[in-house]
Amino acid sequence: KRLILIGPPGSGKGTQSPLIKEDYCLCHLATGDMLRAAVAAKTPLGVKAKEAMDKGELVSDDLVVGIIDEAMKKPSCQKGFILDGFPRTVVQAEKGTKIDKVLNFAIDDSILEERITGRWIHHSSGRTYHTKFAPPKVPGVDDVTGEPLMQRKDDTAAVLKSRLEAFHRQTEPVIDYYDAKGVVAQLPAEKPPKEVTVEVQKVLSS
Ligand code: AP5
Ligand code: ZN
Repeated sequence: KRLILIGPPGSGKGTQSPLIKEDYCLCHLATGDMLRAAVAAKTPLGVKAKEAMDKGELVSDDLVVGIIDEAMKKPSCQKGFILDGFPRTVVQAEKGTKIDKVLNFAIDDSILEERITGRWIHHSSGRTYHTKFAPPKVPGVDDVTGEPLMQRKDDTAAVLKSRLEAFHRQTEPVIDYYDAKGVVAQLPAEKPPKEVTVEVQKVLSS
């Protein structure tokens, strides 16, 4: 299966991805995770991407299409993939390959600030927690490795505003683009994580 997960910041794309990945043995390509790794490693790509990311703006199409093309060459991605956070502009969508299903994480903006400001992540594994909705066993500590959790630099209320603006202006047209091809499925992303998972399974088995 070739899947795209699309939705605003905090809608649950990164939370649902590992579960879909396990069920269907697909590779998970999250452009946000790849870009954050490049920023942390201070690679030339990371240096170019950092400014836009810190401001909550989109990184240029060329850079992002480049990292996705490179990542999709991996043997593990040949039988199917989950694109999480890509494409985010119509230009990116036009450059992409054929897609079987687009999961649209539909959710009201008003819910997202609480989700974003309460998120904690385990950097090396990408595991995500939430102080209220998915707390770790010990506050501030990863359940599996015992390593410290951290917050993303762009997870502030102020930067969220720009990220949401970018979503509505640049990414919502991508949903219309795929809707015209008849491949979009709506998910009730405001429901609790387990209920969203059930909805994802329904869509993918139909
Ligand atoms: P990216 O990393 O993709 O960030 P995003 O799209 O803003 O999405 P998030 O990761 O914030 O949300 P999510 O849906 O994964 O939420 P999660 O599941 O973690 O991109 C970051 C930046 O990189 C961009 O701003 C841009 O600069 C750049 N970039 C990336 N891709 C690009 C591209 N293609 N083109 C150009 N630039 C690009 O959930 C959030 C929290 O809520 C967690 O704490 C979680 O535990 C909790 N939660 C999840 N689901 C639920 C639920 N159902 N109920 C209650 N709580 C929940
Ligand atoms: Zn994410």
